[in-house]
Amino acid sequence: MARVRPMLDGVPETLLWTLHNRAFEAGRRYPVLDDPMALQLLANLDYPFEERFGVPNAFHSQAQALRSRCFDLAVQEYLADRPEATVVALGDGLETGFWRVDNGRLNWLSVELPEVATLRRTLLPPSDRLRTLSGSATDLSWLDEIEDPEGRGVVVTTQGLLMYLRPAEVREILAACAARLPGGILVLDSMGRRLARGTVAGTSKVGAMTIPPMRWAMDPGEREKLRGAHPGITEVRALRLPRGRGAMGELIRIQNLLPGVRTLTPAITQLRFGDRTPH
Ligand SMILES: C[S@@+](CC[C@H](N)C(=O)[O-])C[C@H]1O[C@@H](n2cnc3c(N)ncnc32)[C@H](O)[C@@H]1O
Repeated sequence: MARVRPMLDGVPETLLWTLHNRAFEAGRRYPVLDDPMALQLLANLDYPFEERFGVPNAFHSQAQALRSRCFDLAVQEYLADRPEATVVALGDGLETGFWRVDNGRLNWLSVELPEVATLRRTLLPPSDRLRTLSGSATDLSWLDEIEDPEGRGVVVTTQGLLMYLRPAEVREILAACAARLPGGILVLDSMGRRLARGTVAGTSKVGAMTIPPMRWAMDPGEREKLRGAHPGITEVRALRLPRGRGAMGELIRIQNLLPGVRTLTPAITQLRFGDRTPH
């Protein structure tokens, strides 16, 4: 296929940064995430990855892949009980989670901004169980697109998205999911306040790219506050990164476990929404 030149800036461009890291990890011996499609996507894109983001470093590329793995594991755990659930991936970028967790029965809905939705449709293979919706996650009409008449269950993932939204928008998304998806779960990652402050000041860079402002931040000790978004949030659970590879993997795990030090990798949280069915 002819290589595609992505015309992205601002937050959408950050999907190329996460893809670059995942592809770098996928090319290692014994990768922590089985993601050959990430390498293929990189080859199909006409984009100066190294000029823009620098050469991926061993810490961030593995940590990025472990974050994706952590999301995959949460989705797979839910699918173990509800194999025909719908997975809604808000801000899915060029993630390949659908193919990594596909059990042949789930349905997948990606919600992405128009320019990224077009890229996904151009670069990723179609499936009759995969839909890409063009629109903003903050326009909650994507909730109307979830076809779940028989209560097969819904998992919402928001990998790498919520930190770029405004706090009121994050709250609205969480409240709407809690109200409309009883029995469902939502998995999110969040950046600590200190790191986010640097991005708002415009001083945090990755290679030549200035990281866009992360307007919503949360320190891990604040997790319980998420319940305040809606009474339907019945469980708030910290998810730990899975074990990584070698000494670097250990370093990633340890710094992720220590709240005071956890500035380099996001904290991952799973929310569960109460089931309205009478017991
Ligand atoms: C850091 S990237 C993460 C992409 C992907 N989830 C991953 O982990 O590789 C942030 C993504 O959020 C998407 N995004 C930003 N604002 C959005 C919005 N309002 N609605 C939907 N997607 C949005 C961007 O287009 C981009 O793909």
